[in-house]
Amino acid sequence: MATRGKTTFICEQCGYQAAKWLGRCPDCGAWNSLAESVTPSGPLPDSQLPARRSVPQPLLHLKTPPEVRQTSGINEFDRTLGGSVVQGSVILLGGDPGIGKSTLILQVLDRLCGQDRQGLYISGEESEAQLKLRADRLGLTSPGLLVAGETCLENIFKILEELKPAFLAIDSIQTIYTATLPAAPGSLVQVRETAFRLVQQAKLLGMATFLIGHVTKEGVIAGPMVLEHLVDTVLYLEGDRSHAFRLLRTVKNRFGPTQELGVFEMQDAGLTEVPNPSALFLAERSLETPGAVVVPSLEGSRPILVEIQALVSPTTLALPRRQSSGVDPGRVSILVAVLEKRVGLGMSGQDLFVNVAGGVRLTEPAVDLGIALALASSYLERPVPADLLIFGEVGLTGEVRAVSQPELRLKEGRKLGFSRALLAKRQKERLGEFEGLELLGVDSLAAAIRSILPGK
Ligand code: TYD
Ligand code: MG
Repeated sequence: MATRGKTTFICEQCGYQAAKWLGRCPDCGAWNSLAESVTPSGPLPDSQLPARRSVPQPLLHLKTPPEVRQTSGINEFDRTLGGSVVQGSVILLGGDPGIGKSTLILQVLDRLCGQDRQGLYISGEESEAQLKLRADRLGLTSPGLLVAGETCLENIFKILEELKPAFLAIDSIQTIYTATLPAAPGSLVQVRETAFRLVQQAKLLGMATFLIGHVTKEGVIAGPMVLEHLVDTVLYLEGDRSHAFRLLRTVKNRFGPTQELGVFEMQDAGLTEVPNPSALFLAERSLETPGAVVVPSLEGSRPILVEIQALVSPTTLALPRRQSSGVDPGRVSILVAVLEKRVGLGMSGQDLFVNVAGGVRLTEPAVDLGIALALASSYLERPVPADLLIFGEVGLTGEVRAVSQPELRLKEGRKLGFSRALLAKRQKERLGEFEGLELLGVDSLAAAIRSILPGK
């Protein structure tokens, strides 16, 4: 039998390796995050190595393999995978508990299987009775969708050998364990080992595999780096629990673009597609109120209009509050500094709150100008016109810069009934005219404020 190997300690947050246990990871600073991991010492006998050894061959002579893809017919889902599910690919779906991961995967599997293909849904979390209740609620119809309650990897492999399904879903990877390791299910070593072996199996059997993973409090899938590296595609299902809509985001994709976004609404009969998210996000919009602006943010190839709200109000606190949700607080601090220094708005002594309506998270610099104008609008108590769409990156000297794909943003704005757009002057000059929208070009944040928030 294999001799006990070398013991290392691996940080479950960042993957840092140490020879001895430490209370705090010296690399990422996380507390109590190091877990023991045993690596075999010395070279392994040939009997323990994979039987097949690769023979190097010229890259030029390799044949392009036929990529077998299948669509689920759920557009908002297919979009996040780059159009369809690739045979033998492994897709990791992460998200907070209760956000709708199991629901989504059951609906997707049901559609993928249809009438003539088999899919296997392994649940380590719910009983078969619970699954049945859920399936009834979701109105699933595929006769090829099989379910099993199982947590032991070796047993799962036995089922796969007999069944050879076209699709497999593991819900969740944290509940699965291999009997070859003594560690508890959900521990870093177990998650890494079981995921690794499931990936191998997926490639071997040409079976598209969905791994569901819970996200921990810190916002990473347990054993984060480890899992993301192993799989072909990483999707995150996000959303505000107090709102019905859910955003499915592509974080990594070997078979298509990243940053794609699918939008769903959680209803009584499961997740339904939202083909026109801008309309949904703007439905509860506060028209002509100081502090509210609408920005077109590009999520993958898709422009989405969302409302940014800011509240600036005088405080007596020695350390004013700075709170933002949906946008990077660091970015907001920079914009506040630019407003102070380049525009002359006295932001110190003010509490500042920034929020993206509906719980959407914006990461693009193209929303800078929108954030800055929302802050200025609230501070000055002057509303931004409701028919105005705003986009542009703001630099440290207060200059407004061009952003990518302006036409896509403008088209979405036109579709949703906006009649004017504020953007970087250079970008406006390059665009010339845009049918249906009046373009207002500004070269600086100060000029933008003068033009759309004029004083009495
Ligand atoms: P679930 O898919 O179990 O979440 P996860 O697998 O990510 O933990 O979804 C759970 C929530 O979704 C639960 O709060 C109930 C709600 N839900 C609906 O609103 N409608 C439905 O049809 C279903 C199945 C769930
Ligand atoms: Mg679940």
